[in-house]
Amino acid sequence: MLIDKYGRKVNYLRISVTERCNFRCLYCMPEKPFSWEPKENLLSFDELFMFVKVAIDQGITKIRITGGEPLIREDLDYFISLISNYNPNIDLALTTNGYLLANYAKKLKEAGLKRINISLDTLKPAVAAQLAQKNVLANVLEGIEAAREQNFKIKINMVPIKGLNDGEILDILEFCRKREMEVRFIEYMENSYAKGTIEGMFGKEILEVIKNKYTIKKIGRTPNSPSFKYKIIENGYEFGLIDPHKHDFCEDCNRIRLTAEGHLIPCLYFDEAQSIAKAIKQKDIQKAVAILHDVLANKPKENRWSEEESETSNRAFYYTGG
Ligand code: GTP
Ligand code: 5AD
Ligand code: SF4
Repeated sequence: MLIDKYGRKVNYLRISVTERCNFRCLYCMPEKPFSWEPKENLLSFDELFMFVKVAIDQGITKIRITGGEPLIREDLDYFISLISNYNPNIDLALTTNGYLLANYAKKLKEAGLKRINISLDTLKPAVAAQLAQKNVLANVLEGIEAAREQNFKIKINMVPIKGLNDGEILDILEFCRKREMEVRFIEYMENSYAKGTIEGMFGKEILEVIKNKYTIKKIGRTPNSPSFKYKIIENGYEFGLIDPHKHDFCEDCNRIRLTAEGHLIPCLYFDEAQSIAKAIKQKDIQKAVAILHDVLANKPKENRWSEEESETSNRAFYYTGG
């Protein structure tokens, strides 16, 4: 079992397989970074899997593949099949922007992927083009349909931004309700890579919009998740709200992040990381495990986004995988 110094059980590994992305979302990567990590510095899927195997042996039961955009890394289905063949009981999931999903959904299903979370911030093509800085909506919607056809369990992530998509909270909610997909509304997390002028909505503002149409009941937080669940009384639909500015979910945070270059990151907010790349290249698994335990021993107590001070993280979300 993996336990950090605050006694939190860590069983969730998020693996960012590439920092690169085919979108330039204003809240994440408005400009292409000055330089990408050279491809030769990436760990191969076989190398990443060396670590994944021991992580599973040590107590990881949930693995999510993220990016950047994970589907732009070739042969992702191969990596997924390595994990699912090693242990079919792992809760194996993917977070994607959906753009390439239409072509990939069947292969991912066959490889053993179980769940997909897809970003959908707007249903208006022009707003999508403004937010992602590319004409993306048609492909994303096709991707969502393809994932539904494969019977994946799907969640939709929406980040409401003032003056851009803040008028579409109910539209996205209804879109998801009709398709029996859970939507999670996410507060924009301030970070130094986002476009400086954008302003997100706080959870209470998002709830106000929904309350103008519906009566809602707070169900509570999904254990070990940043998401609070709410139920619409009129129709029974359940949606989620992720409000990191309250950071009350940090107290039972169960996650650790691994990047494509082999950096193990204990918290989304902070810069701290340690590299397992050398240990993995040398096939020194014991060393990699020792680094994992050291990273856990230094996992911070909580992030520092706060509603009052609106702090900014220096971590790039496209690098850590959100
Ligand atoms: P489920 O397994 O379906 O609950 O997925 P998830 O919520 O763990 O994953 P997803 O990649 O869909 O992330 C949803 C949102 O939560 C994104 O905006 C993430 O950046 C954010 N998020 C994920 N983990 C953390 C975390 O440790 N801290 C904070 N502040 N936000 C997080
Ligand atoms: N604030 C909140 N959510 C973000 N995401 C990316 N950047 C941010 C940010 N600055 C979300 C994406 C995706 C998820 C993995 O993280 O919308 O759905
Ligand atoms: Fe947008 Fe995700 Fe790409 Fe960032 S990593 S630019 S949030 S699609």
